[in-house]
Amino acid sequence: MSCNQKGFLLSFFFAFPLIFSFAFVASQCNKNPVIFNFGDSNSDTGGLAAALGLEFGYPNGRAFFHQPTGRPCDGRLVLDFLCENVKTKYLTPYLDSLEPNFTNGANFAISGSATLPEYQPFNLGVQFLQFRRFRNHSLELNSKGFTNLVKEEDFQNALYTIDIGQNDLSVAFNSLSYDDVIQKIPSFISEISDAMEGIYLLGGRKFWVHNTGPLGCLPEKLGTRKTNASDFDEHGCIKALNDGAKAFNSNLKDLCEQLRPQMKNSTIVYVDMYSIKYDLIANSASYGFKNPLMACCGYGGAPYNYDPNINCRDSGYNVCEQGSKYISWDGIHYTEAANAIVASKILSTNYSTPPLHFNFFCNSP
Ligand SMILES: *[C@@H]1O[C@H](CO)[C@@H](O)[C@H](O)[C@H]1NC(C)=O
Ligand SMILES: *[C@@H]1O[C@H](CO)[C@@H](O)[C@H](O)[C@H]1NC(C)=O
Ligand SMILES: *[C@@H]1O[C@H](CO)[C@@H](O)[C@H](O)[C@H]1NC(C)=O
Ligand SMILES: *[C@@H]1O[C@H](CO)[C@@H](O)[C@H](O)[C@H]1NC(C)=O
Ligand SMILES: *[C@@H]1O[C@H](CO)[C@@H](O)[C@H](O)[C@H]1NC(C)=O
Repeated sequence: MSCNQKGFLLSFFFAFPLIFSFAFVASQCNKNPVIFNFGDSNSDTGGLAAALGLEFGYPNGRAFFHQPTGRPCDGRLVLDFLCENVKTKYLTPYLDSLEPNFTNGANFAISGSATLPEYQPFNLGVQFLQFRRFRNHSLELNSKGFTNLVKEEDFQNALYTIDIGQNDLSVAFNSLSYDDVIQKIPSFISEISDAMEGIYLLGGRKFWVHNTGPLGCLPEKLGTRKTNASDFDEHGCIKALNDGAKAFNSNLKDLCEQLRPQMKNSTIVYVDMYSIKYDLIANSASYGFKNPLMACCGYGGAPYNYDPNINCRDSGYNVCEQGSKYISWDGIHYTEAANAIVASKILSTNYSTPPLHFNFFCNSP
């Protein structure tokens, strides 16, 4: 797949002619950008489909690829836009067995993944083990003279991106009290710490860590949880779930601060996805969105169009005409239109600690 940034730019500026004036331009790399991604459906470019043979069927993919690609979205994910920014191909899922091309890295993210339970497909620990095997095997094949593989120095110069935790919180909130969820957060963070240290011990030095979004604003949660009026914040999201996400994020930020001096020569960029996504919902009209809490594709109509028994890919779903007017694609995942704005905000560096540009890993001496 090649990047079609021109098409994106055109449709993007057509849709938001005045409101936005940021430059969504590709940035420079002076070496081959190699990215290894770990995570859940927020960055799954086809891993679940490859692993289980379960596609996210049409209308997934309709806005950009014009066919299902294994992404739970109508088009591109935030990760896809980040790849476009450094002019590299979209990442191949590690488990993709047909015509894989791993010269620019690999994607270990699988929908449904969490940090825990351990050794359960495809938790973060398993994704790390897959990476370790991938690295070992690549180095072995390199030494046998195979070309077109990731080289040892590429593993060192690569960017390691991590976006996980949403499912840990989501599952925990389905059965536990608020206090019990908060108590479990350190165990989630500990798994992320282990994965980062494991990557570091294998030579990885550059990390890009996304925190988790506002769980309490997802139509899935709004449409399924028992709530009363006092549960909601001023924008209609469930306060307790968002507070849980914020507690997770505060722990994750602390982890990054703790690992920076510990992992010598490493660069760890922490990206505040929560603020980006919450701002999108709170100020949805100014970004051109309507119904910020309603899924484009789902069942049941307003206010959330979410029914756990009739998901976007099940028969009987309904789908909105203009995905670009919606933030939520299917009740859990964002639309391509929302992802494009999220990516542009990430690329502004305003939400990053330290405020490094995304291309820092491929644009250094
Ligand atoms: C894999 O992608 C690289 C660019 O990242 C390209 O140069 C190479 O030709 C591709 N290999 C195959 C077999 O398509
Ligand atoms: C990686 O390769 C080394 C030797 O090259 C071997 O000792 C080690 O067990 C391998 N690790 C894994 C996880 O395969
Ligand atoms: C609303 O729900 C909260 C907990 O979510 C509970 O503490 C409160 O008593 C409930 N209020 C009413 C009026 O049911
Ligand atoms: C850190 O970088 C310096 C300079 O490149 C190098 O000599 C040293 O071995 C590195 N240390 C680690 C732990 O990577
Ligand atoms: C980033 O911050 C600068 C300075 O505060 C501001 O001018 C700019 O609009 C911000 N960009 C985005 C995308 O938020």
